[in-house]
Order: sequence, then C-alpha cells, then structure tokens
Amino acid sequence: MNEVITVALGADHGGFALKEELKRYLTERFFQVIDCGTHSDDPVDYPYYGKKVAEHVLSGQAQKGVVVCGTGIGISIAANRTPGVRAALCTDSYMARMARAHNDAQVLALGARVVGTGLALDILASFLNTEFEKGRHVQRVAQLD
Ligand code: RB5
Repeated sequence: MNEVITVALGADHGGFALKEELKRYLTERFFQVIDCGTHSDDPVDYPYYGKKVAEHVLSGQAQKGVVVCGTGIGISIAANRTPGVRAALCTDSYMARMARAHNDAQVLALGARVVGTGLALDILASFLNTEFEKGRHVQRVAQLD
C-alpha cells in the first residue's frame, strides 16, 4: 500500500488559474491536496498564500507544497521567510529535479506568466518524483538553517 502524499497549494490571483490545473493533475493521480487559496482571480496579496503553504509543510500537514504567482518570485520569497522551509522557483524540469536531489526543497514555486501549463505540469512531476540524494548535500542543507 503506497503512502498518500499531501500537497498544499497556494496562489495569488496571477497564479490562480494554474493552481487549478495543478490541483486537477494531482487529484487525478491520487495525491491529497490542501488548497490554501486564493479561490478566484480577484486581486490578492501573495505573501499570505506563500506563508500559508509554508506553514502547512512545516507543521507536517502536507509533505510538499506548491506556490504560484505571476512570476513565482514574490510567493517564493514569502514561503522562504518561514525558517525550515526551502522553496525553489523552477522554470524547467532540470531545476525541479535538482531542487529535490540537492536542495531537498519541500516547496515548488512556479510563475504562471512565465511557464505554460504543460511545462508547469512536467516541472511538478519532476519535483514530486525526485528524492533528496542526501550524502554531501545533507550538511549544506543543514547550514541553510
Ligand atoms: C501580481 O500582479 C504579481 O505581482 C504577482 O503575481 C507576482 O508576480 C509577484 O511576484
């Protein structure tokens, strides 16, 4: 029996539509999803959503998080303000693999105005399917905190 992975999703208005696509992708693949909002494309402030996802990951309510805004920059900065959370802004699948393998990132940040839906889903799959390599990377990741 495979363990069910819970993914917390959060976005501002710029990332709302992509978040909905990510949610559909994940639920179709039997991931459990916690949708931290936002729930429409009415303008909102991204720091709240970045922090909310980061807190879900830190508390263990979710094993992974995905945050989305227009560029992915603001909401990744917001998520990274929670000590212990490593959010990686990825624009391709190689970055997503390395973010997991070398940086043990628990949160993926995406820019909805930067990557298309197809690429975003491929980035997400790479992120979720890659394990932390440990070894020499353990002490480096520990030094971040
Ligand atoms: C909102 O217009 C935009 O500034 C936001 O989604 C994000 O790109 C900020 O980093």
